[in-house]
Amino acid sequence: MSVRDTFNKHLLHPWSDLPNLGEDDSTPVIVRGEGVYIYDDNGQRMIDGPGGMWCMQTGYGRQEIADRVATQIVELGYSTAFSTINPLEAELAQRIAEKTPGDLNRVFFTTGGSTAVDSALRLCQLARNIRGEPQRKHILCRDKGYHGSTYLSASVTGKERDKTAMDTAVDLVHFLTAPCAFYQEQEFASEEAFCDFLIAELEAKIAELGPENIMCFIAEPILGSGGVLVPPKGYNRRCWEVVKRHGITYIADEVVTAFGRLGHWFASETLFDVVPDIITFAKGVTSGYLPLGGYAVSDAFMAEISGDNAEGNCYSNGFTWSANPVSCAAALESWDIIEREQLLEHVRDVGPYFQAQLRTLMDLPLVADVRGMGMMAAVEMSLGSDAEGEALLEQDYHLGDLIDSHCREFGLLVRPLINVCIMSPPLILTREQVDDLVSALRKALLKAQEELLG
Ligand SMILES: Cc1ncc(COP(=O)(O)O)c(C=O)c1O
Repeated sequence: MSVRDTFNKHLLHPWSDLPNLGEDDSTPVIVRGEGVYIYDDNGQRMIDGPGGMWCMQTGYGRQEIADRVATQIVELGYSTAFSTINPLEAELAQRIAEKTPGDLNRVFFTTGGSTAVDSALRLCQLARNIRGEPQRKHILCRDKGYHGSTYLSASVTGKERDKTAMDTAVDLVHFLTAPCAFYQEQEFASEEAFCDFLIAELEAKIAELGPENIMCFIAEPILGSGGVLVPPKGYNRRCWEVVKRHGITYIADEVVTAFGRLGHWFASETLFDVVPDIITFAKGVTSGYLPLGGYAVSDAFMAEISGDNAEGNCYSNGFTWSANPVSCAAALESWDIIEREQLLEHVRDVGPYFQAQLRTLMDLPLVADVRGMGMMAAVEMSLGSDAEGEALLEQDYHLGDLIDSHCREFGLLVRPLINVCIMSPPLILTREQVDDLVSALRKALLKAQEELLG
């Protein structure tokens, strides 16, 4: 049986299209990766536009990571954080604490981003219980935010276009407007006016629920999977000021934005002037080579729920692969590569060029918007038709599928999120490779334009 036949018979993938289960003829079979390129089973070489799943920081085929991981497997292939300490988790936690803002000095390791978010939210619930505020459990989040696929992390996810009939913890969760002017029907005179609107909405929601009932606000500094939504200037800082004034915990979900994607180890303070109580991370921490995630939490937060304040409580949350030494080895080596090859500086240098070159696509009729920062960007496509609701969604899916197959033909993997080409390439992407990426996307858009618009 071919790989595709076996896939169709035996596999269930994330976000599987259920009506067509077992009939997939377009998902690429990827067999090899080198640098910024991946190769399919027909030998077609493609730039990896989404960088795996926002995680491939240092590029494919890193012998250094392979060697460090292999050495670690032989040295100590597993240890459990439930009852032992391994030296690698200690070193990684120390490095993270040095780079996180403020007093975020304590790290909890998980197996990925969803478990990081879930664990952070459960820590907040525990904290409210310990502090005698058991009613304080409501969570503020945003439309188009993505935080994961466990029950709680999916519950705070606000991607309304992902059709789902799966249950979520609706009673606890409140969605605010996505901070992206492109999606606003209402016109605003300026970026500042839009920001004022968003902050007023946040204040109003807090007043409506009562601050004494709100546990936390969770936000990606730039919304990734929702379509790379870069908020208006000052938005993150102003949200932080509002929620802190009301004693609400601020969780920055940096699962995408950390480890160099925006040119810094963490983006919250450096780029957005925010010192969260908790920062979640995953993905780029190992350059995607092995699963690992976690959160860093402030000493002040932990002081309130530990020692004499803890009243015999324990943090009953953890995973078999929490702080797995082999994953930590991959993370430490990826970290060393980022430092050795000055990839943060590289992103700060090439990122603006990447954004500028992508923006040149705005001259094409199929391109509705281009936005981004650093090495994360979105090219949003539209047919500009009058279709609405389900009909528009269907049209957008079709447009995305067409661009997907054309891009591959021209040497670029995109796999659009419906009608949005998400770009999160390996951080090592050079200017020449930026040109190749944009040129492939332009060719694909022109070909689709001819087919769809004549
Ligand atoms: C901001 C953010 N948080 C959490 C997650 C969930 O991470 P994971 O897929 O590793 O569980 C993602 C995944 O895309 C993400 O983008």
